[in-house]
Amino acid sequence: MRHTATILLGLALLGTGCRGWVSEQPPVHLNPNMDTQEKLKPYRKSEFFPNGRAMQTPPDGTVARTYAGNEVRDRALLGTDEHYNTGKQGGAFASTIPAGVDLTLATLRRGQERYNIYCSPCHGKDGAGQGTVSRRLTTKPPTFHQQRIWDLVPGDIFNTITHGKNFPNMAPYAAQIPVEDRWAIVAYLRALMQTQKPDLPAFTGGTANDATAFDGDKSEDAAALDAKLGPVAQTVTFDDGTANLSDAGQAALNGVAAQLKGNTMLLQVTVVAADAALAQQRAAAIKTHLGGQGVDGGRVVTQADTGADSIDFRTADANE
Ligand code: HEC
Repeated sequence: MRHTATILLGLALLGTGCRGWVSEQPPVHLNPNMDTQEKLKPYRKSEFFPNGRAMQTPPDGTVARTYAGNEVRDRALLGTDEHYNTGKQGGAFASTIPAGVDLTLATLRRGQERYNIYCSPCHGKDGAGQGTVSRRLTTKPPTFHQQRIWDLVPGDIFNTITHGKNFPNMAPYAAQIPVEDRWAIVAYLRALMQTQKPDLPAFTGGTANDATAFDGDKSEDAAALDAKLGPVAQTVTFDDGTANLSDAGQAALNGVAAQLKGNTMLLQVTVVAADAALAQQRAAAIKTHLGGQGVDGGRVVTQADTGADSIDFRTADANE
């Protein structure tokens, strides 16, 4: 009985404890973990630095985390290129790859590498959604080999990488993956989809101007050149109703010629115009212009068709 009273009194004292008692000692903290650390807080004093402040002026050349190359948090600091930085145009998901992204083999390789690091744990290296981590997820990642995903435009995929999807199902990757690499992943994802659906049209847009990307294994060049030159075809334009190449058209063809000089590929040019004769003249004009840039005429095969104006480039290995 007496013991019980003593124990109760002890417990009561523990409970009411030290309230109001003054002590110079830090409070008793039974399980400190890392709650109190030796660190400097902004605006506090510090004896460590000669100027006595905890906050130091950033070194010259420091780039804000929120700068265009690493956007998201602070829109005011964002670059002005909405398409490139957000994947949107006028607020809607962009249906093309923005200018400034080189659709080259090097970019695809970079995208593949980044994808395998950041995405494959869930989505699988083959994109079927069977990555090791996905086995433990309640909401499984979708397979990329289905119509719904094939229909996603580039800007939508870019946005998913930036902001995630239905958090916490898929978290945002903006902090880990800079804008440039996000586009490389978007381009690579299309190639990954095409492995299961070869007739899926390539994403268009980007800038195909990197002639150095094709050094190396020639066996891969035809597909890679196609990916590069396909989008360029759309920028080869003529003055209305004529076979006179516009300035932009000539510049685009100069780029194409530079690409072709690095290898022995054949280029098939298909020109469609409302009038058959005009289509033929335009095809000939393209061949002539490429010839003027040093591309042997034997390597350029032209084809003309009637229909809505369009130009298409296909490359093939000369030995095929
Ligand atoms: C931790 C697992 C995980 C990782 C890592 C991950 N994802 Fe996802 N992802 C998911 C899940 C889960 C969904 C389905 C989300 C939903 O629909 O609610 C998803 C959905 C998607 C979709 C479909 C979006 C749509 O519109 O339906 C795309 C595209 C995608 N992810 C791309 C990526 C890319 C690219 C990466 C790498 C940068 C990546 N994911 C990394 C789990 C992941």
